[in-house]
Amino acid sequence: MISMDNNSPEVRHPITMTSQTQYSIPFNRSSVIGRELDYITEALRIGQIGGDQSFTKRCQGLLEQVLQVPKALLTTSCTHALELAALLLDLQPGDQVIVPAFTFVSTANAFVLRGAWPVFIDIRQDTLNMDEAQVERLLTPRTKVIVPVHYAGVGCEMDVITDIASRHGIAVIEDNAHGLFGSYRGRKLGTFGSFSAQSFHETKNVTCGEGGALLLNDAGYLERAEILREKGTDRSRFFRGQVDKYTWVDLGSSYVMSDVLAAFLFGQLEVWQQIQDKRRRVWEYYDRQLRDWARERGIRTPIVPPHCDQAYHMYYLLLPSLDQRTALIEHLKRRGILSVFHYLPLHLSRMGQKFGGRPGACPVTEDVSARLLRLPFYNTLSEFEQERVVAALLEF
Ligand SMILES: Cc1ncc(COP(=O)(O)O)c(C=O)c1O
Repeated sequence: MISMDNNSPEVRHPITMTSQTQYSIPFNRSSVIGRELDYITEALRIGQIGGDQSFTKRCQGLLEQVLQVPKALLTTSCTHALELAALLLDLQPGDQVIVPAFTFVSTANAFVLRGAWPVFIDIRQDTLNMDEAQVERLLTPRTKVIVPVHYAGVGCEMDVITDIASRHGIAVIEDNAHGLFGSYRGRKLGTFGSFSAQSFHETKNVTCGEGGALLLNDAGYLERAEILREKGTDRSRFFRGQVDKYTWVDLGSSYVMSDVLAAFLFGQLEVWQQIQDKRRRVWEYYDRQLRDWARERGIRTPIVPPHCDQAYHMYYLLLPSLDQRTALIEHLKRRGILSVFHYLPLHLSRMGQKFGGRPGACPVTEDVSARLLRLPFYNTLSEFEQERVVAALLEF
């Protein structure tokens, strides 16, 4: 069985090339959807393989226009976008950051790298998002940031979270790794926090293998964000002709994506609606076919509140017990279908325990983590393949 713990992060594409042959329906499969290869060839032909060149600008422009944000900056990953956000907020050792216990390690790690202390919050039973009703109880004078994660691309209760944050003078940084193009009460996910972090990792709806973006909803941070992203130099200003040489002016690191990857990404981004439509059909097919079967067996299917337009990032089942989940993974595996579980409770990881995480502290996370199963879900999943997955499930 596939192993997963918080030291070997989330099983996002959990099979090696050799073990993949074991599965005729993998959990994830990357694919070329649009003009990705033409654009890569173009980037190579015009000799633009470094960062911040024409394809990066086209990707950023598209994100800014579709999401209506003042600025998008491509980064090497969502993890790095979160690190940039933590740097921009000037977090100091001992500052506290509220993060869900049910998330990927980077949601916490990006802040821990700055010396901050992660305060783990449990999740809601229905959406598996941060339980906004518990935020206020966790606030202290040292709380500086709340980091909502829109799990499976379904929006957190942003009305409540942003209201608490503004009343207490706390920043909100959205980890929108799952939620690109989803909305909450008609507003796009990723546009609520001061910053938000996107992922273009191979398991995401829109991908370039490894990549991310920082969205800045407050243009006041733009100049510094450019500097921190360019190794702490004012190189972006130099390229715009605003200074005649560039130099070291602040902290920073190397967070700029190569234009070769941006070329691939643009090929996907420009057909984002086609990708989302396809994923909606995949999600709805699973839901239609499995809902009654699941209900009769005490299996929970995803809950999407009416005020959330989800991003169709994944389809999961909550089995009645860990044993049943293990049995179902085995049952599907015997039929050549790879299904996977998801995050282990972050507060119970080795690092999480160093920050005070204890069993029982986030009971919903602990329970859900043991019972959740993700079904194969990718942009080219065919109806025939989905029929096979559903038939295998109905046999269980
Ligand atoms: C919620 C969440 N945040 C952050 C990340 C990290 O993304 P990346 O691999 O682009 O750094 C992931 C990875 O899948 C994730 O699920």
